[in-house]
Amino acid sequence: MSRLPVAAARPAPTTALPAVLQADQLPVHVAVIMDGNGRWARQRGLPRVMGHRQGVEALKRTLRLCSDWGIGALTAYAFSTENWSRPGEEVSFLMTLFEQVLARELEALQKEQVRIRFLGDLAPLPAKLQALITEATERSAVNSGIHFNVCTNYGSRQELVQAARALAAQVQRGELDPEAIDENALAAQLHTAGQPDPDLLIRTSGEQRLSNFLLWQLAYAELHVTDVLWPDFDATALTQALVDFQGRQRRFGGVQEEI
Ligand code: IPE
Ligand code: IPE
Ligand code: MG
Repeated sequence: MSRLPVAAARPAPTTALPAVLQADQLPVHVAVIMDGNGRWARQRGLPRVMGHRQGVEALKRTLRLCSDWGIGALTAYAFSTENWSRPGEEVSFLMTLFEQVLARELEALQKEQVRIRFLGDLAPLPAKLQALITEATERSAVNSGIHFNVCTNYGSRQELVQAARALAAQVQRGELDPEAIDENALAAQLHTAGQPDPDLLIRTSGEQRLSNFLLWQLAYAELHVTDVLWPDFDATALTQALVDFQGRQRRFGGVQEEI
């Protein structure tokens, strides 16, 4: 099977790109591990949760920049399956924050034609948040703008396990021949089914690990780690990540083109 990325539409930029960026060399899909909220707050003598509040502003900023610059999709890691192990007050604060932000931003997302989806196991989330997620997903499904995936109670291993289980159930029902299970069949059972894989993964706060994020989908992504803490992530930091991406030679296992 070809390992080349799925072709995806690259919208035209709606605002001037920074001069160092070339529109035809931007990633189609950017994924981001938004890390460092707690450290940002600690550096200022504030409670950790204030870093999460500021992190929301950084996410809104990043979504708008990606949309304006013609990036087709943004996937952000908001809450991992492992984040439940944090202190109860921090988890509650985050769930309430997600609810408040989603309720507050829904109209703006509609106006900007953002198509929002939530990837992960949504069943354990508070009922009110689940209802808002359903509303936002349904209302924005036909929007023509950037595809915005928010990974909430997302864990890549859990996602792969449920994909394996779904395929096994199809085999058991006699609907699927085990020999017919290929990369496409497995990818079709993931939360990201139908979407192109990310071309670029950005992780903030200097941590050099994946933390159970999109293990399958990032197989050939370019990685950019920045020391910037997520609440400080801005146009300059995004530009740096995109310049880094533009300079990479992507080979997908092949050989470098002769220059
Ligand atoms: C990322 O920031 C946000 C979430 C995981 C929800 P952290 O809260 O992990 O911040 P640090 O890593 O402790 O600084
Ligand atoms: C990854 O960050 C999860 C999110 C950004 C939502 P963490 O801060 O939870 O990851 P670790 O614990 O440093 O690996
Ligand atoms: Mg962290």
